[in-house]
Amino acid sequence: MLKNKNIIVALTGSIAAYKAAELVRLIKKSEAEVRIIMTDAAKEFITPITMQALSGNPIHSNLLDMEAEAAMGHIELAKWADAIVVSPCSANTLAKISQGLGSDLLTAVILASEAKVFLAPAMNQQMWNAQITQENVVRASSLGHKILGPGEGEQACGDIGSGRMLEPEEIFAALEAFSLSLLEGKKVLITAGPTQEPIDPVRYLSNHSSGKMGYALAEAAEAAGASVTLVSGPVNLRASSSIEVIDVVTAKDMFAEVKRSIEAADIFIGCAAVADYSPVNTHSQKIKKNLNENLLLELEPNPDILKFVSENYSNKTIIGFSAETENVEDFAREKLVAKNLDFIVANDVSRNDIAFNAAENEVLIISKDKTKALAKASKILVAHQILNYIHQDSLLH
Ligand code: C5P
Repeated sequence: MLKNKNIIVALTGSIAAYKAAELVRLIKKSEAEVRIIMTDAAKEFITPITMQALSGNPIHSNLLDMEAEAAMGHIELAKWADAIVVSPCSANTLAKISQGLGSDLLTAVILASEAKVFLAPAMNQQMWNAQITQENVVRASSLGHKILGPGEGEQACGDIGSGRMLEPEEIFAALEAFSLSLLEGKKVLITAGPTQEPIDPVRYLSNHSSGKMGYALAEAAEAAGASVTLVSGPVNLRASSSIEVIDVVTAKDMFAEVKRSIEAADIFIGCAAVADYSPVNTHSQKIKKNLNENLLLELEPNPDILKFVSENYSNKTIIGFSAETENVEDFAREKLVAKNLDFIVANDVSRNDIAFNAAENEVLIISKDKTKALAKASKILVAHQILNYIHQDSLLH
């Protein structure tokens, strides 16, 4: 809940501006106060009257407007806010914020405010991938601003790629996590992605894990106030700059890094799809093909990282993941017991629409005496719900 919080929702010129209406509705429903800032371009996409009616307050737009300044000036507005969420955030406004411009009301308010700033980028995939935009993202995030998304998929212009604004529910979940600060002062260690076990210099054994669930958990934990270390196998994802990412390749590397960081952690989340076996011998040169005979690979078991953590650090909250293709709940519960975990999150990886490599997930959270089913939702929403549930279950020690 955002009860009694003061939130500025700022709209810039993007087709995704219509989604801000739903975001404002969600924020109002949770009993927060909302003020709206609209850039001139934003007004071309959604009318100020719509936003005014939803927020219950007059729209703020002009920096140099005596009447508006007399009612609630930009400095007053900046001081009033607990959080400012720029949704949608255009490439242009992102550039201005990251360079410290104060050339319109929105950027001046951000400069003058101590409030937490959330930026939900929305733009064409080419604009998002432009080198300068990417540099601006890094800069904005190093200033402490939280970048929410963007998501991937089909865009208004017909392109497919990265740059779609997150859905209102996802932005709201991040605001809520920030406001509740459930994990304030906690250290969370997360493993994510697949591991790769080299056969020779050009080949490896691996699996279909994309790392999206682990990265979503890292972002959600960070938004909830935790300090997060993410030990990540090879993936195509980038975490916020406030998250410490340790890149690894093999299960043995991942194990070594977890051993190095576990002592300081309060919560361990093993979300990685760690390869269970690795080749006994890694050939130093590429294996030559000989199509006249079979090639036998001898594999040895990898260390079970999660089991090691639960056996040696039972004072921590330990959460595992379980990827199953059948009897999902039973197999996951067996793992919960065998590995002595506080929670296990079970995924059905036989489905194409969720889990491995998908944007969405539908999971069961299993603890010793109960099972909680979460409805299918984007991985970032599922991540927030997992952390909220675990917290509510008040098992965090
Ligand atoms: O036993 P299984 O490998 O199916 O258990 C899955 C859980 O254990 C996941 O949380 C995964 O991250 C973790 N795991 C691990 N080390 C391994 C294998 C799995 O930490 N070697």
